[in-house]
Amino acid sequence: MLTKVALLSAAAAAAVVSGAPLERRAAPGQADIDLVILNYALTLEHLENAFYRDTLATYDAAAFKAAGYPKWVRERFVEIGGHEKAHVDFLSKALGDKATQECTYEFGITDVKTFVATSALLEGIGNSAYLGAAANITSPEYLTAAGSILTVEARHSSWVNSAVQKGDGFGKPFDTPLNFNQTYSLAAPLIKSCPDSNPALPVVAFPAAKVEGKACPGKTVTISGEGVQAGQYVAVLSGLSTSFVQIQDGGKITLPEDLGYGRAYLVVTKSESVSDDEVVAGPAVLDVELSAQKAAKIYAQ
Ligand SMILES: *[C@@H]1O[C@H](CO)[C@@H](O)[C@H](O)[C@H]1NC(C)=O
Ligand SMILES: *[C@@H]1O[C@H](CO)[C@@H](O)[C@H](O)[C@H]1NC(C)=O
Repeated sequence: MLTKVALLSAAAAAAVVSGAPLERRAAPGQADIDLVILNYALTLEHLENAFYRDTLATYDAAAFKAAGYPKWVRERFVEIGGHEKAHVDFLSKALGDKATQECTYEFGITDVKTFVATSALLEGIGNSAYLGAAANITSPEYLTAAGSILTVEARHSSWVNSAVQKGDGFGKPFDTPLNFNQTYSLAAPLIKSCPDSNPALPVVAFPAAKVEGKACPGKTVTISGEGVQAGQYVAVLSGLSTSFVQIQDGGKITLPEDLGYGRAYLVVTKSESVSDDEVVAGPAVLDVELSAQKAAKIYAQ
């Protein structure tokens, strides 16, 4: 028995490492969570791959120059696009005929600046997605493969935020895990349609939540969305901690004093619980900026 397990696990490792098609059998009537997670990851990688491929085909070196970026900025984005394609190929090969296919997307890109902002948005979501899924991966080999992708996505995110956007490249000491439905809710508005043959994933998109106002710790912003009402709660997902603030009249909420910088996510909930069945809307992305100037002052001290 032990030998069998070890062999199976070695085979799975070899399949993942080589990207060879993978045949794993779940117990009857039970979905294989690792296959679900690989397809969920592939869903996001397809989206990122299409985003870089199609948008960079639209905006050439001259467009980046006209937008005020040095030559190497577009070159690095092309490199990032190549990584996303490699992730798609790797996961597709591992899943074989169970692999989900590319969908059609609507990224809402109108110029190079919105491309850069959307890249920062997507890379951050990708990090939180892999981080959140880590808890559910049962195979150590898959966990290593996912971790190997996650660290690269984290460097993409860091580079866009710092070198390109002149902000802080690492924000908080801890990144924020998002669960499957939370991640899918952020990706779904960009997905227009998918091939009917794609495997159904056990995810739902919650209604979108929108935050208005400058995001600063201790300050008030407004949150809105379908079904969002005063008296409900906002779960502030920041790093490994979750805190709750109650929604006041007009959707006003006071952000926690200890929110810090970098990215957090806001989820509107019926109670002080962020379990999926308590969610009303969200997540909304909340980026608290640390300007490069302020960072420079800290280092000068
Ligand atoms: C993923 O793991 C978390 C933490 O153990 C658990 O709460 C959640 O239900 C799991 N999700 C799935 C889809 O198995
Ligand atoms: C998504 O949310 C629905 C509704 O609460 C739940 O049934 C489903 O299990 C969730 N999906 C995952 C992958 O956790």
